[in-house]
Amino acid sequence: MRDYTEVTKTIAALCEGEADSITKMATISCELFHAMEGFDWVGFYRVVEPNLLKVGPYQGGHGCLAIPFDKGVCGACARTQETQIVADVNAVADHIACSSSTQSEIVLPVYEDRKLIAVFDVDSNNLNDFNHHDANALGEILKAAF
Ligand code: SME
Repeated sequence: MRDYTEVTKTIAALCEGEADSITKMATISCELFHAMEGFDWVGFYRVVEPNLLKVGPYQGGHGCLAIPFDKGVCGACARTQETQIVADVNAVADHIACSSSTQSEIVLPVYEDRKLIAVFDVDSNNLNDFNHHDANALGEILKAAF
């Protein structure tokens, strides 16, 4: 089980009083990418128009630029507004492979003023690397920041 205690405090301190959502997305991506084992791609896809996500701040390798709500794991998260945990991306036909090394993935909805503004995506090069503990801890970080 990952320990999110320190990184949660760091992100809260860095984002305190910051109103700009892109600035906070960049900070959250950077802090989690460098602090957490297995976080091989960390970033945000922003809702830029109805039913369309575009990549926002991220850390890691190449991220696909645009994802419609009806495509991929990120699209499913945006569409259903429910956290998606994928233990093995190879088993999900609809998964969009930005990197062939990705094995598992977690995607959470991001709200500002109760409106969906983005999804937050973490990819791991290990199979089955995310669980409900990660979902809860990441959800708390996002809720506190936006
Ligand atoms: N795998 C995601 C696409 C985003 S990248 O992994 C960075 C998906 O299926 O939506």
